[in-house]
Amino acid sequence: MNKPHGRDTFKADIFVPANRWTSPERDAAERERLWPKTWQMVCREDRIAGVGSFVAHQILDDPVLVIRTGDAPDDLSAIYNVCQHRGRRLVDRKSGTLGHEIPCRFHGWRYGWDGALKSATDEEDWEGCPAFDKSNLSIPQIRVGRWGGFVFVNLDADAEPLDSWLAPVAAALDPFHLEDCKPHFWAQIHAPINWKVFAEAFNEGYHAGETHKIGVNYRGGTSPGVAYGPHGMFFSEGRGFSEYKVRGGNRWKLAETFQEHLWANMAHQYDTLFALTLDPTMKAADKIRELPSDTPPEQVMADFYGSIIEETEKTGAKFPRDLTVEAWTGAGTDWHIFPNTIILPSLDGALVYRAVPDPKDRDSCFVDIWSLGRFPEVYEGPAEPSAFVGFESFKGNNPFLEEDFENMEAVNEGIKSRGFKGATFNPSQEAQIRHFHTMLDKYCGTPE
Ligand code: FES
Ligand SMILES: [Fe+2]
Repeated sequence: MNKPHGRDTFKADIFVPANRWTSPERDAAERERLWPKTWQMVCREDRIAGVGSFVAHQILDDPVLVIRTGDAPDDLSAIYNVCQHRGRRLVDRKSGTLGHEIPCRFHGWRYGWDGALKSATDEEDWEGCPAFDKSNLSIPQIRVGRWGGFVFVNLDADAEPLDSWLAPVAAALDPFHLEDCKPHFWAQIHAPINWKVFAEAFNEGYHAGETHKIGVNYRGGTSPGVAYGPHGMFFSEGRGFSEYKVRGGNRWKLAETFQEHLWANMAHQYDTLFALTLDPTMKAADKIRELPSDTPPEQVMADFYGSIIEETEKTGAKFPRDLTVEAWTGAGTDWHIFPNTIILPSLDGALVYRAVPDPKDRDSCFVDIWSLGRFPEVYEGPAEPSAFVGFESFKGNNPFLEEDFENMEAVNEGIKSRGFKGATFNPSQEAQIRHFHTMLDKYCGTPE
């Protein structure tokens, strides 16, 4: 199950019919058979750092609370956010701190952090009433787990443990110690697209050459995809040096050396994406750009890596010692944790995306984007996301991502047309998305 599968696995079967996106039957199957059965990333752990702090999350019709119950890392409780009296959503806030008793605002029933019913208002009214059994009126608990500084829940009591579910991803990404990273930026967009359109767009690099035009010409590269267990990943391979836009102007230049090529790619991320390349990597890239033009690429990489460590530690942040050159270069570019989380690791941290379906509208989802970085102990990152409604309102915040967003509404529209039979995926560079659909079919069945 956890062995990687590459291009040849997918060549025979690269077509996915449009009904996987458009059929109401598929939509219903996702609601019943996918979301309540798979591990869902809820939040960064630092959102629930203090005892009593909580985050509310919504998995379609199921509202969930994750609460920190003690000082040990695993002292977490996850319960449905539903009062057992008449079904009111128990906590209306999205995050914050709870007292030891969680009151329901409707009639005042009170629950503990583990979901146990502590008291019902005018409890004596139920005296002699067999249907009122406090032990049966607890809020059901939900499975909760942690990895990489993220908190996950699973509504399915029989689901595979989180550790084994994430094993292929963790094997590659654990050396990056994302649990020690903190958000550099965090944006949340209420996006007018189906969640799959978002997940697919950030799960391949095939689009980069045509879609991304503002800073580096990616046309020369390729991004083969691989399936790992239920998940997928792609890694980027350059073909020669990049052409890039000279900073502050409209002139394009072809990099003449490996170090200039590397610098241009880092500068593009730093200037337009605000993720993956943060200050330490940018400073290191500036340094290696000055190396003599005949420096062998291996030496450039070794110097670059060493400088990133130096620049990270200069800020007072820790650089993980097991994040070796081999671990870094072997980790690939972009990991898709089935079904809806995407992580791109870098020496500076990671870029993370998550798309959560809007329970009220299948053509709508809530997208979170975190840029994680390595920062000193005392660091105040964003405590709340910058929130946007629609891609239009996000404009001006991230030129790189805005290029990706330009495709998404157009795809969401096009896939519904009678003129579109289905997707014909690239067997190499979209193998991981083909695999995503194999997994979706496995969970949801195939619509008529
Ligand atoms: S619905 Fe919660 S106390 Fe009545
Ligand atoms: Fe992109």
